[in-house]
Amino acid sequence: MAERFEAYISSFLSGDSAIADPELALIDRESEGLSDLEPSIGPAAGGLLALLVRLMNAKRVLEFGTALGYSTIWLASALKETGGTLVSVELRKDRCEATLRHVNNAGLGNRVQVICGDAEEVAQQLSGPFDLILQDSAKALYPKMLERCIQLARTGGLIVADDVLFKPMGMPEKYSTPIHEYNEAVFKDRRLRSVILPVGDGVLLSYKRSE
Ligand SMILES: C[S@@+](CC[C@H](N)C(=O)[O-])C[C@H]1O[C@@H](n2cnc3c(N)ncnc32)[C@H](O)[C@@H]1O
Repeated sequence: MAERFEAYISSFLSGDSAIADPELALIDRESEGLSDLEPSIGPAAGGLLALLVRLMNAKRVLEFGTALGYSTIWLASALKETGGTLVSVELRKDRCEATLRHVNNAGLGNRVQVICGDAEEVAQQLSGPFDLILQDSAKALYPKMLERCIQLARTGGLIVADDVLFKPMGMPEKYSTPIHEYNEAVFKDRRLRSVILPVGDGVLLSYKRSE
């Protein structure tokens, strides 16, 4: 059912309207070799992220978990309109290189800095504040990195996590348990106001209301 929804949503994004970059279709094809446990955010969540960047007039965006650059292209396309930039962190060198190729092909090379390294370590070296932070790296890192993400986000900014419905989707516990812990932690945190949207594999938006 979910795949049918995504295909239907995608049908509005290409062709004459050209809302989505044609490079996304190439990434989709390359992504066929990736595990089901490393899904790209998909067209609905991608469109949502791009909308949020525009609504917030975001200038500084950070993402953890680049893979081949699908979410990167959605974010950077919107940042091209706001005049902002994206820092994207990915562990695997081959994926960093693939993303740079896709980003350059899409004419977004001047908007994106890809940092090849471990998200948890890189996060300690980055300086905030960021308007929007996307967490889509290793699922075990979601709860471990929450505090650092809150520090790096500006007050009034957003922390977005993908795949937050892994538990009710019946995904393996190794992945769904840390995500469930993350979900519990953000909803308990008084600095945040959070909502889960059943978009793609589940998108959790956390608004940072105070330090
Ligand atoms: C779900 S995929 C990201 C999908 C991407 N956001 C998209 O929409 O196309 C997760 C990515 O996180 C990367 N990753 C895993 N552990 C990581 C770590 N410790 N630091 C940074 N990236 C990591 C994986 O190599 C993988 O490419």
